[in-house]
Amino acid sequence: RDPPPAMGMEDVIRKDLGSLHGMPLYDSFIEGWPQVKVFQARPDDLLISTYPKSGTTWLSEILDMIYQDGDVEKCRRDAIFNRVPFLEMKAPGVISGVELLEKTPSPRLVKTHLPVQLLPTSFWEKDCKMIYVARNPKDVVISYYYFYQMAKIHPDPGTLDEFLENFMAGKVAYGSWYEHVRGWWEKKQEKKLLYLFYEDMKKNPRQEVQKILRFLGKEVAEETVARILHHTSFKEMKKNPAANYETMPTVLMDHSLSPFLRKGISGDWKNHFTVAQNERFDRHYREQMAGTDLCFQMEA
Ligand code: A3P
Repeated sequence: RDPPPAMGMEDVIRKDLGSLHGMPLYDSFIEGWPQVKVFQARPDDLLISTYPKSGTTWLSEILDMIYQDGDVEKCRRDAIFNRVPFLEMKAPGVISGVELLEKTPSPRLVKTHLPVQLLPTSFWEKDCKMIYVARNPKDVVISYYYFYQMAKIHPDPGTLDEFLENFMAGKVAYGSWYEHVRGWWEKKQEKKLLYLFYEDMKKNPRQEVQKILRFLGKEVAEETVARILHHTSFKEMKKNPAANYETMPTVLMDHSLSPFLRKGISGDWKNHFTVAQNERFDRHYREQMAGTDLCFQMEA
């Protein structure tokens, strides 16, 4: 039998999501799953793990700045998605996350959106350090709604009301936000895992960068910290082509529909939710989050 024809770009644009162990995901990523599952982590890999739209790119830029000792020019060497490879990424015509990671010299920064139970086992076996960022779900769902529009690997998001229902039901890429944040939160008890919040990073970025440095066991000069904070501010990142995703092909990401670095604030959901939507969302949130000590600040 002939192998199935390779996917072309047209096969990933605005297609319905497939399912990976019950979690909705892009078909092209599912196709690459066998390689991801057996991925060989290295002991000095640092994993950046998030539910989508929670501050992944921000944390990635902070960590690359730390790894490059605050050298802004070195952090412009390539686009963020090449400096911090996206583990489970696979799309036609571009190098997959796994292939890129194999070519990346140690120490590597590795990005993933996988829920804790799907993380390749070698990250646990090698006892890798991990940093998770969580963001409040109201801002996540709004950010995700705009991202669905501009990143055409997603199906059409429909109206905001429809998208809110899909998000609450876990029928969006990477599935249930509630399970994702809780799953990683529970892992914190037993593993080398730093759990951060987007809202804390907004309120006091210096304090959160210090936390990261302590977690990594790194000491850096105060002026380096200042440089890291400046370079990773929303304003700087928005105009930095190595951080703002503008170098992605427009067929995949159309910034004219909504820029990747869109607003970068906490509480933007207030400009979008109706009173009824907010009440419904709150009720559902309370049900889903019952019994956990994990708390979110819905605004900074
Ligand atoms: P908004 O759509 O609310 O603006 P991710 O990188 O996980 O996809 O998350 C993207 C979100 O993080 C977007 O949120 C983006 O604007 C925001 N973001 C990126 N860099 C940021 C920064 N330096 N400061 C604050 N927010 C940032």
